[in-house]
Amino acid sequence: MAARIIDGKAVAAALRADVAARVAGLGYRPGLAVVLVGDDAASAVYVRNKDRAASGVGIVTRTIRLPAVTAQAELLATVRTLNDDPAIDGILVQLPLPAHLDQRAVIDLIDPAKDVDGLHPINVGRLHGGLPGLAPCTPRGVVKLLDGVSLRGARAVVVGRSALVGRPVAAMLTALDATVTLAHSRTRELEGECRRADVLIAAVGRPEMIRGEWLAHGAVVIDVGINRLADGRLVGDVAYAECAAVAAAITPVPGGVGPMTIACLLENTLDAAIARRACDQKSVQRPFCSQSP
Ligand code: GUN
Repeated sequence: MAARIIDGKAVAAALRADVAARVAGLGYRPGLAVVLVGDDAASAVYVRNKDRAASGVGIVTRTIRLPAVTAQAELLATVRTLNDDPAIDGILVQLPLPAHLDQRAVIDLIDPAKDVDGLHPINVGRLHGGLPGLAPCTPRGVVKLLDGVSLRGARAVVVGRSALVGRPVAAMLTALDATVTLAHSRTRELEGECRRADVLIAAVGRPEMIRGEWLAHGAVVIDVGINRLADGRLVGDVAYAECAAVAAAITPVPGGVGPMTIACLLENTLDAAIARRACDQKSVQRPFCSQSP
C-alpha cells in the first residue's frame, strides 16, 4: 500500500490560523524581532518569509539588518536593547552569523524568556530535563507532524545530532515515551539502526542518504533535510520514492517539515508573549519570566 503523505503545508496553515485566532483574542499584538547580519541570500529569504508569516497572524515584526562587518560588541548591544524592550516578546538571531562573530556569546545573551529559537542554554536544559520552556521550532514542527502516530513505547531513530534539530527532537520524543536512538555520522551499522525504527527522523543534511531498503515496512518517516542538488532539484535526506514504497507515512520535500518551522516560530512567539506578560503582572513565576533584574 502506498504511504500516507504527511502534508506539512496543510498542518502549518492550520497552525497559523490557530495562532492568528489566539493573537486576535489577546488585546495586544506580540512583537517578534529578527536580527539579520550580513547579506547571505538564503538567510535573507528565510527572514522575509518569517516577516510575512508573522504579519499574517497579527504579530508585529521588527527586522534589524546589520552589515556583514558588524562588530561583536555592536551585535551584543542590539540584543541587549531588544531584551530590555517591553514591546518585543521574541528575539531570533538568524544563523549562521558571519565567521568573525561569536555565535555562542550572542545566543547566551538573549533573554531566555524571549528566546523563540529555544537555543539559550537555559531553554536547552529545560527541554532535556523535561521542564516547560521555549523549544526549537523545527523539532516542534516534527513532533506536530507525528500527531496521531502512536509514540508510547515506539522505537524512534533520529539520524543527526545537531543542536538545532537532532538533539532536541530526541529529547521531545523521549518525553513522549518513545524509546529513542540518537544516531549520527559515526554510528556503526547505521542501516541496521534505521531498520529497527518504527519512527525515523532524518536530519543529517546529506541528500537522499536514507534508502528504501534501510526501512522496516510500515515505518513513519519524517525528513528534515532540504538539499539543493547540482541539477537544481530540492531533495531531502531520504530517498523519497524508495522510502514511500516501504513506509506507512512519509513527509515530502518540499512541503513537509519546512513549512512547520515558521508556523512553530509564530506559536513560540505567542507563547512567549503570553507567559512573559503574565510574569510582568506577577501572576506567574518562572520558567518563562525574564532573568534580568
Ligand atoms: N537558520 C536556519 N535555520 C534557523 C533557525 O531555526 N533559527 C535561526 N536562528 N537561524 C536559522
